[in-house]
Order: sequence, then C-alpha cells, then structure tokens
Amino acid sequence: MTALAAITIEELPTAMSKTHFGFKTVEDDEKVGHVRGVFDSVASRYDLMNDLMSLGLHRAWKAYTVAVAALREGDRVLDIAGGTGDLARAFAGKVGGTGMVVLTDINEAMLHRGRDRLLDEGLVLPTALCDGEALPFASDTFDLVSVAFGLRNMTHKELALAEMKRVLRPGGRLLVLEFSKVAAPLSKAYDWYSFNVLPRIGKWVTGDAESYRYLAESIRMHPDQQALKALMNEAGFGHVDVHNLSAGVVALHVGIKC
Ligand SMILES: C[S@@+](CC[C@H](N)C(=O)[O-])C[C@H]1O[C@@H](n2cnc3c(N)ncnc32)[C@H](O)[C@@H]1O
Repeated sequence: MTALAAITIEELPTAMSKTHFGFKTVEDDEKVGHVRGVFDSVASRYDLMNDLMSLGLHRAWKAYTVAVAALREGDRVLDIAGGTGDLARAFAGKVGGTGMVVLTDINEAMLHRGRDRLLDEGLVLPTALCDGEALPFASDTFDLVSVAFGLRNMTHKELALAEMKRVLRPGGRLLVLEFSKVAAPLSKAYDWYSFNVLPRIGKWVTGDAESYRYLAESIRMHPDQQALKALMNEAGFGHVDVHNLSAGVVALHVGIKC
C-alpha cells in the first residue's frame, strides 16, 4: 500500500514525460528545442543535402506523393512541416487559382527558405509558422493534409495525427511521407550507409555531422509501416493504405477521415 502510493504520485509523472531524440532519452519538453537546433543548423543547405543523401531519390518519392494526392482544381491543402516547400509548390500547380495550399512549419529558418524560394519562382502561398501538434486552423477545413519527413520529428505523434484529422473535412485524406523500415536483405547495407556515410556528407556540406547522426537515429526510432498505420487508425483514420517506396526506405501512408 505504502510502496504503491510512493510510485504513483512521485514517479509516474516523470516516467511519462520522457521521449526520444534519436537514440537519446530526453524530457518531453526538451525535444522541440533539440529538433529546432537541427533544422536551424541545416536550413541553408537542406535542399542540397537532400539531393546528395538520397542521390536525388527524394524527388521521385515526392513526385509519387503528388500523383497519389490526385488533387483537383479548387482543392484546399495544408502542408505541415513543409520546410523548403517542395510539396507545397507541386500541389499549388494542381489546385490552380481557385484552390489554396498553405505552407507551414515550426521552424523559422526552414520556412523562410521555403517562402523565399517560392517567391523567387513567382509563387505566393499563405505561410504559417506553427506546430503540427497544435494547428491554428478551424476543424473540417482542408481536402488534403500532407506531412513529408516531418512526423518523425514531432514529440507527440498521436496528438499531431489527431490535429491533422481535426482540420481535414470528412472524407479528406492525410498523406504521411516518411522514412520507414527497409526490407531485411538491405538492412545491413542501409545501416552502414546511414551511420557511416550520412554523417560524413553532413560534416562536409553543412559542417554538422551530429544533425545527420540524429537523422539516422530518428529513422530507427520511428514507428515502422504497420505501427504507423495502427497509430493512424487509432487517431481516427478509418482506412489507411501503405505504399512502400524504395524497398521500404520510405513509406507513404494515406489515411481517410471517415
Ligand atoms: C526533414 S524536414 C522536411 C521538410 C519538407 N517537408 C521536405 O519534405 O523536404 C522536417 C521538417 O519538420 C519540421 N518540424 C519538426 N517538428 C515539427 C513540428 N512539431 N511541427 C511542424 N513542423 C515540424 C522541421 O522544422 C523541418 O522543417
């Protein structure tokens, strides 16, 4: 009786407030600052690094996502953790003048680069600095919500998914493009590449090996294909399809709010 009381009151809140930052265990409320540090550090070379690290494959993964989105003229789209704006730009070309694409991110440096890049191309999109876990949009607003390589960095994934569902209209779709679990025959080579090559490219291009070590670690800590599907189901996406890309290096999860 005495032992139980001591555990529930003193220790439980502490135990519940831990999360992962890569392979490290950190306090829940510290993670967002660590993630901010990563993207502040890499923002100016983010696009170049994406091309180098993936040998250009990220373009194909995003093009596939845009094809699956099958947007129509007039659709309203929210791109969460949109960073430098690859998806938002492609979506804008599909929804036309009567539609709307909102580019959002929690990080000012990334969002500035995205907004400036789109402006340089003559594209003016509504842009909002916001946390995917607390979206400043009314419920039932968007036809499609996307989050590419962003969910992995969020502290409370269940909360973020619930927010994404809230802002979607009934029947609307959530597209989550994210690193996932690679097919077993490739896992040794992929691990070697991730932990040896990625940090070296990061150091060479951005002067920051640590952020790319975090990338490799955070991918291993992220829910795999089936676990993410289950999380989306629990968040209220009644139907979820999983598309494995590049042997599971990346997966596109498509959830329908129903
Ligand atoms: C790897 S980048 C992806 C950028 C872009 N979507 C792409 O595919 O190129 C991850 C982005 O997630 C953003 N991010 C991290 N945590 C976030 C959060 N809680 N809410 C919104 N964005 C977040 C980061 O600031 C960063 O811009």
